[in-house]
Amino acid sequence: MENLFRLVDQDQDFFQPKWTLVNGPIIVGAGPSGLAAAACLKEQGVPSVVLERADCIASLWQKRTYDRLKLHLPKQFCQLPKLPFPEDYPEYPTKRQFIQYLESYAKHFDINPKFNECVHSARYDETSGFWKVKTVVTTSGSNKTEFEYICRWLIVATGENAESVMPDIEGLSEFGGEVIHACNYKSGEKFKGKKVLVVGCGNSGMEVSLDLCNHDASPSMVVRSSVHVLPREILGKSTFELAVSMMKWLPLWLVDKLMLILAWLVLGNTEKYGLKRPSTGPLELKNTKGKTPVLDIGALEKIRSGDIHVVPGIKRFSRGQVELVNGEKLDIDSVVLATGYRSNVPSWLQEGEFFAKNGYPKAAFPHGWKGKAGLYAAGFTRRGLSGATSDAMRIAQDIGNAWKEENKQLKKRTIARHRRCISLSQF
Ligand SMILES: Cc1cc2nc3c(=O)[nH]c(=O)nc-3n(C[C@H](O)[C@H](O)[C@H](O)COP(=O)(O)OP(=O)(O)OC[C@H]3O[C@@H](n4cnc5c(N)ncnc54)[C@H](O)[C@@H]3O)c2cc1C
Ligand SMILES: NC(=O)c1ccc[n+]([C@@H]2O[C@H](COP(=O)([O-])OP(=O)(O)OC[C@H]3O[C@@H](n4cnc5c(N)ncnc54)[C@H](OP(=O)(O)O)[C@@H]3O)[C@@H](O)[C@H]2O)c1
Repeated sequence: MENLFRLVDQDQDFFQPKWTLVNGPIIVGAGPSGLAAAACLKEQGVPSVVLERADCIASLWQKRTYDRLKLHLPKQFCQLPKLPFPEDYPEYPTKRQFIQYLESYAKHFDINPKFNECVHSARYDETSGFWKVKTVVTTSGSNKTEFEYICRWLIVATGENAESVMPDIEGLSEFGGEVIHACNYKSGEKFKGKKVLVVGCGNSGMEVSLDLCNHDASPSMVVRSSVHVLPREILGKSTFELAVSMMKWLPLWLVDKLMLILAWLVLGNTEKYGLKRPSTGPLELKNTKGKTPVLDIGALEKIRSGDIHVVPGIKRFSRGQVELVNGEKLDIDSVVLATGYRSNVPSWLQEGEFFAKNGYPKAAFPHGWKGKAGLYAAGFTRRGLSGATSDAMRIAQDIGNAWKEENKQLKKRTIARHRRCISLSQF
C-alpha cells in the first residue's frame, strides 16, 4: 500500500512543471537590497520574482543577529527607497523596529518572495539570451526538489554577509567548550559567570564583548591586528553624518585626518588599551579594503575599566585553554567567533566578468551595479543600507527603460500585424 502511494506521488511530480519562464527580472535574496529592488521595479511597472533561501524576509536581521542590536547609523541613512521610517522611530531604530519596518515595506509594495528556495546555480545562455536560474526548494518535512527559472534579467541581492567566516585555528576542535559564530549569539544571559574568548574586534566583536559584560560574564577580546574606533556621535551629531557632510567639501584624506583628531579628542588614545590604529585612515580603509570602522557604543569604556580584556592574536587552542601569540595562556569556557562574513556569489553564479572571486563586483561604487547581458548587483557597495538604496533605484530605472522600450516594440509589431490582417481581409 505504502509503495502504491509512493508511485502516485511520483506520478504527481512527473506532471509538475520543472521550469518557469519569468516575465521580468529574478531577484535573488529577500533582504533589504532585494526588497528595495523589487519595490523600485514595481514603481516602474515591472513585475519581478524574488527568490529567498530562508523562510522569511531579511533573514540576516531576523535569524542571525543578537538581541541588543540597533542600527548604528541614523535612521535617515538606513531607510529604503520610497517609504520612510515611521515618524515616531528613534534616531537609531532597534533591530525589532527595523524588521517591522521591512515587513511593512514588503506589504506596502505587495512583495511576496518565494521562500525556502535556495539558488544553487545561475548562468547566462548565449544562444537564447536568457538567464537559467536553478533552485533547490525545501518543502515540508525537509524534502528537497529542484526547479529552474528562465529570465531576461538577473539581480543578485544575496548580500555581503551571506555566509559566516569560520577561521581554521589550530586546536579549536580539541577545545571542548562551546564555540559559536557571532551570527548565532543572541545574548550574554547564558554566559553569566563564564570566561568567554571573543575572536575579532569589528562592530560585532566589540558589541558582543559589551553585552557579555552587561550579563556578568568575563570577556577577553582578540585584537590580532589593528582597528579604527570612532565615537558614534561627536557633540551630539552622528560621526557618520559629519563625515558625509565634510566629504561634500573636502578631499577624503583630509576628512580622514579630521575624523582621527575628533576621535582622539572624544575617546583619547585608544592604542594604550591595545587597540592599535591602522596606518590608513578609516574612510580610505573602508573604500579600499572594505574594513568597517567600529562605531563605539560603550565597549571602549569597559575596555578602559578592564571589564573587557584586550588580548593579542591566537597561537592555538587546547582543552579548556587558549595560547596567545605572546605566549600567555588563558583558561576559557566558551568562544564566540566574531570573525566576520563573506559573499556567497561565486558558489552559485557562473560568471567571471562582472563579479570578482571574492563575490563582489569588480568595479567599485558607484559603478558596480550593472554587468552585461541583464546582470545586476544590489547591496555590494560596502556602504550598508544607503548603498542598497542607491543600487535599487539605478537598477529599476535601467530595467524600467528596457521594459518600456520592449513593450513599445511589441505594441508596434502587434499593430503592424493587425493592420496586415485588416488589409488582407479587404481582398
Ligand atoms: C550584525 C550586523 C549589523 C548590521 N548593521 C547595519 C547598520 O546598522 N546599518 C547598515 O547600513 N548596515 C548594517 N549591516 C550591513 C547589512 O549587511 C545591511 O544592513 C543589510 O542587511 C544588507 O542587505 P542585503 O539585502 O544586501 O543583504 P542581507 O540582509 O544579507 O540579505 C540577503 C538575503 O539573501 C538571501 N540569500 C543568500 N544566498 C541566497 C541564495 N543562494 N539563494 C536565495 N537566497 C539567498 C539571504 O538568506 C538573505 O535573506 C549590518 C550587518 C550585520 C551583520
Ligand atoms: N549595527 C551595528 O551596530 C553593527 C553591529 C555588528 C556588525 N555590523 C556590521 O556588520 C558587518 C560585519 O561586522 P563584523 O564585526 O561581524 O565583521 P568584520 O568587521 O569583518 O570584523 C571581523 C573581525 O574578526 C577578526 N578576525 C577574523 N579572523 C580572525 C582570526 N583568525 N583571528 C583573530 N581575529 C580574526 C578581524 O581581524 P582583522 O581586522 O585583523 O582581519 C576583525 O577584527 C560590518 O559591516 C559591520 O559594520 C554592524
